[in-house]
Amino acid sequence: MNHLLSIGDLDRAGIERIITQAARFAEVSDREIKKVPALRGRMVLNLFYEASTRTRSSFELAAKRLSADVVNFAASGSSVEKGESLKDTVLTLSAHKPDAIVLRTPWAGAAELVSRWCSAAIVNAGDGQHEHPTQALLDVYTLQQRLGGLDGASIWIVGDVTHSRVARSNIIAFQEMGAKVTVAGPPTLIPRRIEELGCEVRFTLDELDGADVVYALRMQRERMTETWVPSLREYASWYQINGRRLGPRQVLMHPGPVNRGVELSGDVVDSPQAVITAQVEAGVVVRMAVLYELLAGAKEPDPVARRQTAPQPA
Ligand code: NCD
Repeated sequence: MNHLLSIGDLDRAGIERIITQAARFAEVSDREIKKVPALRGRMVLNLFYEASTRTRSSFELAAKRLSADVVNFAASGSSVEKGESLKDTVLTLSAHKPDAIVLRTPWAGAAELVSRWCSAAIVNAGDGQHEHPTQALLDVYTLQQRLGGLDGASIWIVGDVTHSRVARSNIIAFQEMGAKVTVAGPPTLIPRRIEELGCEVRFTLDELDGADVVYALRMQRERMTETWVPSLREYASWYQINGRRLGPRQVLMHPGPVNRGVELSGDVVDSPQAVITAQVEAGVVVRMAVLYELLAGAKEPDPVARRQTAPQPA
């Protein structure tokens, strides 16, 4: 794998390889010194044209735990504000010779374009409404830890599917791992022909109790150019996941940031069924595994092996 642009770049074996490596890196996070030298001397450039809390901080931490050098670049406060294009920005920053560029932009397809302009490995950290492959991987990892596997699990993805890059990547990844996926939401927020990805579609939550996992999505108002629902209150009355709708054995997921009181009620966010914090934790180890696979991969020695201590004289 040279880049991670789409979750479709990985088949089931590839997803499993990254998840297994992530589990090994999780062991490093429990050590007193949470660092391995696997990417020492390599440079990772985080290039973020959109707001991000979880994704950006976990990519930074992931690269640092692998001992890579990290440069963070945010579009605000840069020459982008003076009109510099994506291409010129990438070419300029390429002069620093990054080994990997982690890219988030509001433009679908931007990661793919950048992969043609420079020699660095490109990781798509979200391109508009298109894809968010590392989110899908960390969600598979979280479910694997919680359920032991996804084969045969019923996963409902609920809410604003139209504007969600997370939904697109997750439908593909969950199905690749053997789960049955249903998307549910108001007809205006479910893209036409989404069932061509292999999922089922529901416009009500009447059958939600059959789900093993409920994956709620944020109402992405920043991407809405028209009125898609009559009001957020109306939306919540039909589609909010709350204590009345969530069964006690169902697992609750959300990619964050959560709008409490809109797609989720406050009580379910804080309930033991919610694995939202575990998803954030998984973000670091899964992104370590992605960076490691792209920049070092199989050619390097075991990245988590503790260094042998010299034998002590008798
Ligand atoms: C998501 C994103 O930015 O696509 N968040 C994330 O990466 N954890 C989802 C969202 O913004 O709602």
